Amino acid sequence: MQEQLRALKEKAEQELQACQKVEDVQEFRVRYLGKKGELTQILRGMGQLSPEERPVVGQLANEVRDSLEGKIAQLLETLKVKELEQRLLSESIDITLPGTAAEIGRQHPLSMVIEEIEEIFMGMGFTIEEGPEIELDYYNFEALNIPKDHPARDMQDSFYLTPEVLLRTHTSPVQARTMEKTKPHVPVKIIVPGKVYRRDDDATHSPMFHQVEGLMIDKNIRFSDLKGVLLNFARQMFGADQKIRLRPSFFPFTEPSAEVDISCVMCKGVGCRTCSQTGWLEILGAGMVHPRVLEMGGYNPEEVTGFAFGMGVERVAMLKYGIDDMRLLFENDVRFLRQF
Ligand code: PHE
Repeated sequence: MQEQLRALKEKAEQELQACQKVEDVQEFRVRYLGKKGELTQILRGMGQLSPEERPVVGQLANEVRDSLEGKIAQLLETLKVKELEQRLLSESIDITLPGTAAEIGRQHPLSMVIEEIEEIFMGMGFTIEEGPEIELDYYNFEALNIPKDHPARDMQDSFYLTPEVLLRTHTSPVQARTMEKTKPHVPVKIIVPGKVYRRDDDATHSPMFHQVEGLMIDKNIRFSDLKGVLLNFARQMFGADQKIRLRPSFFPFTEPSAEVDISCVMCKGVGCRTCSQTGWLEILGAGMVHPRVLEMGGYNPEEVTGFAFGMGVERVAMLKYGIDDMRLLFENDVRFLRQF
């Protein structure tokens, strides 16, 4: 039996050396030292031994067990450290690799321009109003002195939803809405940024575009006030040396009416391709609020006067940033948008 034990120890030690993994060692321990393990099997035969032999064999068995346990513990320790090292090695990251930069979005050039326009007019005491993009025919046309069969409607090919409801063709309906809301108080001094819709689509026209409307009503508002406000705007927006030019025009809701040009931002008025050699660029329509419009809005044209203007935001953005195709502003190509 002692022979058996010694043989077992030798065999076990060899096997233990071959164990490469923690699981191998655990399996090994069960196989040799477990309840049904090989050492236990051998000890079952103790009963047949003589009383003299028993303690000797018992001691030897204990020695074998203790020695194996000791070796197992030692090996487990080494294997665990080794496995941890391997794991750390496999999970390690190379901190010298270039990182993946978090992409940060930025403002759309149109939003930037609208905010800048708002800042400039707020600096002159205007407040900001908004109105619905789905608008009644009444506010979009009739309250602006454009009756149902008026030929001026041809200027603004419209998207109708029903005979009385359409996508607003300009921000001017907010003039009428604001007057209705504010009457009879003065001053009215608002700008209205927003989207408008027309049945147009080419390099310089988009079916959806942006306008900023302006409206000022008070006692003794004169055409020169309009000129002063617009010149101040042009200088802040495009530079202190800006000039503006007003040309006679027609809008049913203003009288007199004007089309307003700024001196060409590309050639400073000398004449170039952008301004078709004229030195001037049109950016807005304007005029003195028509007495009929004041009346319909609840104001007495004998007591107050006003001016209004409407400018195309895309136009302003294109001039400010030198963009030659309006569609670029709506395609949302990041290569374009990143430049601002
Ligand atoms: N609403 C006009 C347009 O869209 C512009 C305008 C506004 C003209 C206010 C005069 C006064 O063309």
